[in-house]
Amino acid sequence: MAGCGSSDSRRIVRIGHNQSTNHPSHTALVAFADFINEKLGDKYEVQVYPSELLGSQTDMVQLTQTGAIDFCIASNAILETFSKNYEIFNLPFLFASEDAYHNAMDDPAVTSPIFDSTIGAGFTAVTWLDAGTRNFYTVDTPIYTPDDLKGFKIRVQQSPTNIEMMRLLGGSATPMGFGEVYTALQSHIIDGAENNELALTDNGHGDVCKYYSYDMHQMVPDIVIGNNAFLEGLSAEDRAVFEEGFLLINQVQREAWKSGVEAAKEYAQNTQHVNFIYPDQAPFKEACMPLHDSVLAGNPALQPIYDLIQEYNEMYPSAAE
Ligand code: GCU
Repeated sequence: MAGCGSSDSRRIVRIGHNQSTNHPSHTALVAFADFINEKLGDKYEVQVYPSELLGSQTDMVQLTQTGAIDFCIASNAILETFSKNYEIFNLPFLFASEDAYHNAMDDPAVTSPIFDSTIGAGFTAVTWLDAGTRNFYTVDTPIYTPDDLKGFKIRVQQSPTNIEMMRLLGGSATPMGFGEVYTALQSHIIDGAENNELALTDNGHGDVCKYYSYDMHQMVPDIVIGNNAFLEGLSAEDRAVFEEGFLLINQVQREAWKSGVEAAKEYAQNTQHVNFIYPDQAPFKEACMPLHDSVLAGNPALQPIYDLIQEYNEMYPSAAE
């Protein structure tokens, strides 16, 4: 190291996430780190910690709350235990299509009331990331209808909405952190899980689970959250550069997501020999719809946002309609 005797006064900015270094979200965070390090490298050094190196998502949210780290990626699912408003994006069958989902999530009228709701809890959401559609996958029994889930232990994220969703679908919800799922599947502690296609490949779940059933029950975004004290301590100029960087994370991730999912499907089908099943979504949707009413009844402030999402659903209906 050059500069013997000089001390490096750059502020280290730590970002944690739970995906591998092959994952689109990692690619996007590295692009962000490069961007900030290039624009503001005299003041900051952004470091990205993948693969739960800093703990599980829940651990990382708590570290971001206290300022022990500056940013992390958290699934929207687990954020509802920090602010009830996040329940809305965990609702099954909330978005009619991927276009409705993307356009709604790009509209600050939809996201701001949710993203700003944790300011009192010490963190703010700075952008959202695509995490595709969530679908059921099982070790050795195909799922064609909700009846097929009866008696099955299915891993869900640690979120009351997800637990209730599984109850309505007739399965037995087994909440656990993402990093524990592979071993739980392999040792048959659970019969299956639900996630996007990258969980099959990047996390190896497709080595164990041979049936992946596209019921598409949820489109749950991932959320990049930042420590409030850090964000508020930035000068107006530096904050503007960070804001540009947050936008970059979103753009890079969404591009990388499309090709990542295509590659994952190809690998799961041809190398891991996972069978893809396309069941009728209608019975899954019908079983889950009471959850919309109960969540809205429990948090009426979500109603206007829910109504706005319905406008996007009308604009971008499901291809099946
Ligand atoms: C997806 C999502 C993660 C989440 C995981 C899970 O991979 O991108 O943020 O942790 O699902 O099911 O826990």
